[in-house]
Amino acid sequence: MKKPFLSLVILYIALRGLAQPTLTIHADKIVKNASPMLYGLMTEEISHSYDGGLYAELIQNRAFLDNAHRPKFWFLVQNNGASATMALDTTETFNGKVTLRMDVTAASKENPAGVANKGYWGIPVFPSTRYHATFYAKASPNFSGPVTVSIVGDDGSTVYARAHVSHLASDWKEYQVTLKTGHGFMPTAKAHFLISVESPGTVWLGFVSLFPPTWENQPNGFRKDLLQMLVDMDPKFLRLPGGNYLEGNTIPDHFDWKKTIGPIEDRPGHIGPWGYRSTDGMGLLEFLMWCQDMNAEPVLAVYAGYSLNGTHVNPGPDLEPYVQDALDEIEYVSGPPTTKWGAERAKDGHPKPFPLHYVEIGNEDWFDRSGSYDERFTQFYNAIKAKYPQLKCISTIGNDADAKLRVRSSNPDLFDEHYYRNAQTFLDDAHHFDGYDRKGPQIFVGEWASYETSFPPWDGRSSDLSATPNMKAALADAAWMTGMERNSDLIQMQSYAPLLVNVNPGARQWRPDLIGYNAVHCYGSPSYYAIKMFANNVGNEIPDVTLNDSRIYDSVTEDSKSGVIAVKLVNAREKPLTLKLDIQGVRLKPDGVATTLAASPDATNSIDDPTKVVPVISKLTDVGPDFEYTLPADSIVVLTVNTR
Ligand code: AHR
Repeated sequence: MKKPFLSLVILYIALRGLAQPTLTIHADKIVKNASPMLYGLMTEEISHSYDGGLYAELIQNRAFLDNAHRPKFWFLVQNNGASATMALDTTETFNGKVTLRMDVTAASKENPAGVANKGYWGIPVFPSTRYHATFYAKASPNFSGPVTVSIVGDDGSTVYARAHVSHLASDWKEYQVTLKTGHGFMPTAKAHFLISVESPGTVWLGFVSLFPPTWENQPNGFRKDLLQMLVDMDPKFLRLPGGNYLEGNTIPDHFDWKKTIGPIEDRPGHIGPWGYRSTDGMGLLEFLMWCQDMNAEPVLAVYAGYSLNGTHVNPGPDLEPYVQDALDEIEYVSGPPTTKWGAERAKDGHPKPFPLHYVEIGNEDWFDRSGSYDERFTQFYNAIKAKYPQLKCISTIGNDADAKLRVRSSNPDLFDEHYYRNAQTFLDDAHHFDGYDRKGPQIFVGEWASYETSFPPWDGRSSDLSATPNMKAALADAAWMTGMERNSDLIQMQSYAPLLVNVNPGARQWRPDLIGYNAVHCYGSPSYYAIKMFANNVGNEIPDVTLNDSRIYDSVTEDSKSGVIAVKLVNAREKPLTLKLDIQGVRLKPDGVATTLAASPDATNSIDDPTKVVPVISKLTDVGPDFEYTLPADSIVVLTVNTR
């Protein structure tokens, strides 16, 4: 009796094995709309994302507030018999804040004395480049000047650029100089910034800033190479300003947006949750400018009265000032200049309101075990909806968290769900959203990333590994993205996290991160390229698709305007796989494009080898009814084919 059954099983397996792997696309049968907002970015000040990262300021501890006892990151330069001391001064304050006092007892033209700053792991020096230095200073009456401002090699003798200020006033005054480098040298970060004098006396510095050329030469702007990498991702939104960074370790340390606007020398900065102080040079307006530069819109996360040490503000009257702050913040972002905070934004240089459709209330409030989020959320929700009914309010507790903690007393428009998982789990769960309830709130996957390790990012062992993920993680990330894109009728937005990492020793608090950099260079991880490939090739409609092979992960979208069909495929196996693409219901043009990211799972990019794993673009010339494509081993492929 057993034998015929066994034969049938063997026959079934054999036939299944023979069936050609086929992706059937009924291109004329659209089953869902894809979210136009799907691909975006999430950001916060972590691993020196802004200070020492995207925010182009080069001086570390420019306002001398990083340490209460010593001028951290500053050092004395006293050449050959010059003599000086430096210390923080809490009596001769600038803008009510501590200053750096330099007492010079011996100095000459040949042997100056000065204070120097090494920046964020070095001052990057590029040939034929103009740097803009600004400093606030005053001097004792016996000081006669001049002051020399320079960028000097760490050998102490190579002067890359130099400028002079003839004398200093005895009251606080702003000084500005341009430093222009010469040519004939390779870019380097083995340099420091120096303010030196040639005569004895006392000099106080209140605030010192040095900017290289910035993105579109915007003042207080962004590092060009990094912003270009982000623009290239074509993000539709930027979730800002966090993350844990929104919440702060304690309630007073939360991101207090009103203290982050206005002149940079007036901003107090604040201690962030990732172990270092933020200058808040990247303030609310800079976040919005960043959005504008990317042609993206903000997803504005407002502080909702819960901080990382587990404390919360009681809902009710205690929470009211925070709710008002959120309403003011929304007005600053999107109100016309005729409103109080819209006028403030205009005063800060941007009369035009920024587009705003989404407000997120808090961050990861499932950590608040007091259960106060329901009431806190609803207090914010009611106030926001009363004034701005068009805004969509996002709850930070979604289906990934304990159902008991979810908001009950109002109806969030979206849930923000976070998924940090190991690569195999992402591969195994790539169909996670296929069966999701379509009647509930829409989903924002506001943070996600796969890690290659058996331990999670917050495990101490992560610090021994490279800051950015390898191809194994990229394959898992791409498989996970196919699931989000296939379900993008429900998944309105998604963003990988964290986005940026300064790869210098001691700079980072988390891995894996998408984009790595030091002072001079930057690079994208394989996951960066996977996300870019996906985001650059997405349509607005999702056709009916069947795939008869579970070894591959897929997502297909169509662009109703251009007629382009974008097919995303992930082969996370060691062997190539030939796939038939049976595209029905449309007339296909023979030409198309294949973009392929393929590498062994342990291959990766790094600051020293930035382009080891990058996409390769090739032309397709044989697209038609019997079109076949061979997916290389360990590959992420985007095929675009034309129907018009
Ligand atoms: O992305 C790193 C951190 O992970 C975020 O700050 C927080 O929201 C999450 O727990």
